[in-house]
Amino acid sequence: MPAFTATAPGKIILFGEHAVVYGRPAIAIPVAQVKARTVVSLNPRGEPGSVQIQAPDIGLEAALSQLPVSHPLAACIHSVADALDIRRLPACTVRITSTIPVAAGLGSGAAVSITIIRSLSAFLGHPLPDDQVCRLAFEVEKLHHGTPSGIDNTVITYSLPVYFTRDQPIQTFHVPKAFTILIADTGIASPTAAAVGDVRRAWQANPVLYDMLFDAVGGITRKARQAIEAGRPQDLGPMMESNHALLQQIGVSSPELDCLVDAAMSAGALGAKLSGGGRGGNMIALVRPDQAQKIAGKLREAGAMRTISTTVE
Ligand code: PMV
Repeated sequence: MPAFTATAPGKIILFGEHAVVYGRPAIAIPVAQVKARTVVSLNPRGEPGSVQIQAPDIGLEAALSQLPVSHPLAACIHSVADALDIRRLPACTVRITSTIPVAAGLGSGAAVSITIIRSLSAFLGHPLPDDQVCRLAFEVEKLHHGTPSGIDNTVITYSLPVYFTRDQPIQTFHVPKAFTILIADTGIASPTAAAVGDVRRAWQANPVLYDMLFDAVGGITRKARQAIEAGRPQDLGPMMESNHALLQQIGVSSPELDCLVDAAMSAGALGAKLSGGGRGGNMIALVRPDQAQKIAGKLREAGAMRTISTTVE
């Protein structure tokens, strides 16, 4: 039995985070510069059913049987075994590595789940189709953050730019004119579940205000798609600024994110906003390609731990 490997990219949300949990559209793109990778290999000396999990990036080395079934890595393995109706897995090692920063809005949890589901199902001789991979990963996303919209597992499964609305068929779209996005990490880990939970409580306390804010975000996202499809990505800049202002009102920005957004704008970015759950994690800036290096330098001077430049095309 050969070893099976699967890799998956990270992702960023260009527009619509948080509002997407409440049925408004969002736009997300894969980020190929960071990757999760899982290798499943046979363990010829192991007892049938003994599955060893190695995840050195998070300091985890454990037998599957030692982890609670609700542990996200264990849940991926159990979900594949259930989907394929396999009671006892062959003795194997599941080794997970990733360059996607954790709790940073780059989709690390979904990417890891997708690589486990793909590599294990292929190892077992029944590679699962994308729609099933996406569905299983969504179930695991619920363990990561309670009430996910499903955008992370969708954009990462299909590795394409998506225009995503909860519970609706996935829509991808054309990008006739490429554009450059700089991603800058505050270095502050911010679990999505906490931000999503706080927004839910705020929405419950003040549904009229929050629905208005979500509607405004949804309106920007729709216009952003039109601008991208019309080959006018430069128009996205002011839309990113408006989206960021709404995320501030929703209560998910932070001084560090605002500082990086301001630094990007002062350095000549066309627009900037936080991306993902917020509170920490990453911000993104729309930049002219010839300015990317200079603006990345300014973002690092302003405190960014790392920058990634990615082209959407
Ligand atoms: O995983 P993150 O941090 O990129 O956040 C996902 C975006 C949210 O809209 C905040 C949550 C969701 O499930 O869509």
